[in-house]
Amino acid sequence: MIEYINCAWLEPEIMDVVRLFGAQDENFGHYFDYSGGKYYNSIEYGGQFYDFENFADAADEVEYKRYAKRFAKLAFYSVLSKAKGINFPYGALTGIRPTKLAYQELSAGRDFKDLFRTMGVSEENIAHVGEVIGTQKAVYDDCGGQDLFVSLPFCPTKCEYCSFITAPVSKTGHLIDGYIECLEREIGAIKGIMSRPKSIYIGGGTPFAVSESQLERVLSAIKSLGLTNVEYTVEAGRPDTFTDAKLKLLSDFGINRICVNPQSFIDRTLVKIGRKHTASDTLRAYEMAKAYGFDINIDLIAGLADEKLADFEYSLRKAIELAPANITVHTLSLKSGAKLKEECERLNVEGIGEMIMLSRRLLKEAGYAPYYMYRQKYQAGGWENCGWCRDGKVNVYNVDVMEERADNVAVGANAISKRVFADEGRIERYASPKDIPSYMAKVDKIIEERAKLFE
Ligand SMILES: C[S@@+](CC[C@H](N)C(=O)[O-])C[C@H]1O[C@@H](n2cnc3c(N)ncnc32)[C@H](O)[C@@H]1O
Ligand code: SF4
Repeated sequence: MIEYINCAWLEPEIMDVVRLFGAQDENFGHYFDYSGGKYYNSIEYGGQFYDFENFADAADEVEYKRYAKRFAKLAFYSVLSKAKGINFPYGALTGIRPTKLAYQELSAGRDFKDLFRTMGVSEENIAHVGEVIGTQKAVYDDCGGQDLFVSLPFCPTKCEYCSFITAPVSKTGHLIDGYIECLEREIGAIKGIMSRPKSIYIGGGTPFAVSESQLERVLSAIKSLGLTNVEYTVEAGRPDTFTDAKLKLLSDFGINRICVNPQSFIDRTLVKIGRKHTASDTLRAYEMAKAYGFDINIDLIAGLADEKLADFEYSLRKAIELAPANITVHTLSLKSGAKLKEECERLNVEGIGEMIMLSRRLLKEAGYAPYYMYRQKYQAGGWENCGWCRDGKVNVYNVDVMEERADNVAVGANAISKRVFADEGRIERYASPKDIPSYMAKVDKIIEERAKLFE
């Protein structure tokens, strides 16, 4: 904890670094000062004082605060990294979007690598961020337009690492019809907003957790918007929910991309994390989906249960063998609300760095390129989530969401609409309630309030 601090607005940023080292129960003192381009940080820790001076010319108040936060974080990172003998792959960068920071530097006419080096990011990760920026360039450059997100927050059962606000369909099933009625009303109301549609994403939860006729109602509502020539993804999700009839329905409605998510191809891991499917269910679902010619994304998680490097390598090689258009490699993260969080205070995954480095090597050897990435707060080893593509199949929706280059028109519970004012470097948001009954009770107000956002 911070026992004393003279600049309270720096505390949240500082605590992000302190938590990275698991040092939140230790005692710190902090004194910050600024004068004529000099940022001064003094830290008291373990009975000693550590002083740091950094220099930067800020153009305005916003930039001044940005530098102040950056140098305060760096000072704490330096102290803790030395004291604990640990370096993290992204150094003192704790934000979820390293690429956005890199773009910020590039647009100010600076090489992002200099800042990343100052912040202690490893050379491999600096190169990795550079590759992501290169692969996503065409999508990034096509600024503006809208992506549509439709939330179907239902799941067959709850996975132990997931913080998603859902109870299994056994508990929420009776709400689905009423929920879809609300979606139909919301979708009907956004026709005027989608003037330059780029992509549609039906996500979850597990969109395939609902029945065929329920799914058809959602797809028909979207069809009535008349959005043509767009990337159209259904995060179908869990292999245990796949049926040929659902896949045919997607094909009939023009969906061109779906997700088949194994997370791991090791059955004992799947049991441990509460996923009620096996690796062979995944292979069956994959073959069924492939027969319809969809671009397929496969989600994997590194660091699940007590998997070792060899276990992760097995899953990774299996995924690569299937040769989907996209493979997304997540690093396990501890999320509040997840069962895993109740069981463990801090993730300590042996070999997590090796797993991610191995995924980069094997995916590149197999012809994949990294096309989008993001990080989360309590991610094992301070690593990342990264989406990989082959044959240039960059998923527009994921890049737009991460880089915030297009409006996001989001309908359903737990959906956050965003309007991007790229010229002004500003974003406005509107979030709907997270839980299903509150969302349903408020749907008219949501329609009204979102319309104001996109006026
Ligand atoms: C929004 S989830 C929905 C996916 C779908 N319901 C499924 O489980 O197949 C998208 C992906 O995020 C990843 N994910 C979710 N929780 C995670 C966690 N705590 N740590 C790492 N990855 C996570 C999983 O790979 C998951 O497939
Ligand atoms: S990981 Fe997917 S299926 Fe599992 S609880 Fe979360 S959203 Fe549902």
